[in-house]
Amino acid sequence: EKGGFEHFMLKEIFEQPRSIADSMRGRVRADEGHLRLGGLRDYVDRLAASERIVIVGCGTSWHAGLVAEYIFEELARIPVEVEYASEFRYRNPIIQERDIVIAISQSGETADTLAAIELAKSKGATIFGVCNVVGSSIARATHAGAYTHAGPEIGVASTKAFTAQVTVLTLMALTAAHKKGTLSETLFRQLLAEMEHIPALVDQVLQKAEKVKEIAYIFTYAKNFIYLGRGLNFPVALEGALKLKEISYIHAEGYPAAEMKHGPIALIDEDMPVVVIATKDSSYEKVVSNIQEVKARKGRVIAVVTEGDEQIRSMVDFVIEIPKVHDILMPLVSVIPLQLLSYYIAVMRGRNVDQPRNLAKSVTVE
Ligand code: M6R
Repeated sequence: EKGGFEHFMLKEIFEQPRSIADSMRGRVRADEGHLRLGGLRDYVDRLAASERIVIVGCGTSWHAGLVAEYIFEELARIPVEVEYASEFRYRNPIIQERDIVIAISQSGETADTLAAIELAKSKGATIFGVCNVVGSSIARATHAGAYTHAGPEIGVASTKAFTAQVTVLTLMALTAAHKKGTLSETLFRQLLAEMEHIPALVDQVLQKAEKVKEIAYIFTYAKNFIYLGRGLNFPVALEGALKLKEISYIHAEGYPAAEMKHGPIALIDEDMPVVVIATKDSSYEKVVSNIQEVKARKGRVIAVVTEGDEQIRSMVDFVIEIPKVHDILMPLVSVIPLQLLSYYIAVMRGRNVDQPRNLAKSVTVE
């Protein structure tokens, strides 16, 4: 049942080339410039015409929402707000009939997310679901949606569901942008082609597992971790920190790299490992200076970099190389080494990786 892997979590991490491909199957044909999400068929006009999108979710699903915020705003130029479902539902939120609410949930059973949907529905919004479990309560409560096709996720720490969510949300954003005309046909086709290539790139990152394991060995007994990223890699930093907390019980925090100097920098000393996602994208130079700030305070830096990056290699303690990909699609690739890092650290600490203490796979009580 674990397909030869020691834990479900590792199996699920390694399944990602397939689960990402499955989430695009029948929906994308880059060579024909074809993109269709069947479940949104009757709602594409409404999506493209929407003046605001509110995304709700919890935990990892909320992180996928933060990634989607960047992508929707960049490609479709629709303002997006991302809310913890638990806060949204008790906040008397302003929701109008023209708003689209996207609820993200792997299990489709998270109580707070379901309640957020019912609230938004009562105010007349149109609700889309991005769920993994077919026929789940959330999938049934929404007006329309697109399933992720990640397959059953058993490990409590979400991995393949996250990348499948980001895949489907990216397809939604591309659908809206294409319909609205905010995206050139050339870039539209280029992004579809790059998306079809993502499973192969994820596979390349998975080949680096041994290298990540060596780094995990060195930091097995760290007491704290900081994760930094900018732009689309900021939610990835949050996700990396959450994975580590959940399964290794090491205290970890994710921050937008530039926020560090507004407080967390005080934590940095020679005992503080700092994972920086520092890929060659539009914020590269800024991240390089954030790394300098950490090194000047003797922090130990593990950097996730774009293949062939010599500049950062010469500055930091460890690098994990990942292939180059369009900025918009980066989280699908950059999250992989962080999943592996948390997994190996937890295993080396002897934790129950698939069923960490105090956690349930789906949180059906508030
Ligand atoms: O099933 P859902 O996506 O609605 O679950 C939301 C969170 O409970 C979930 O992502 C949780 O944070 C995971 N354990 C993260 O690994």
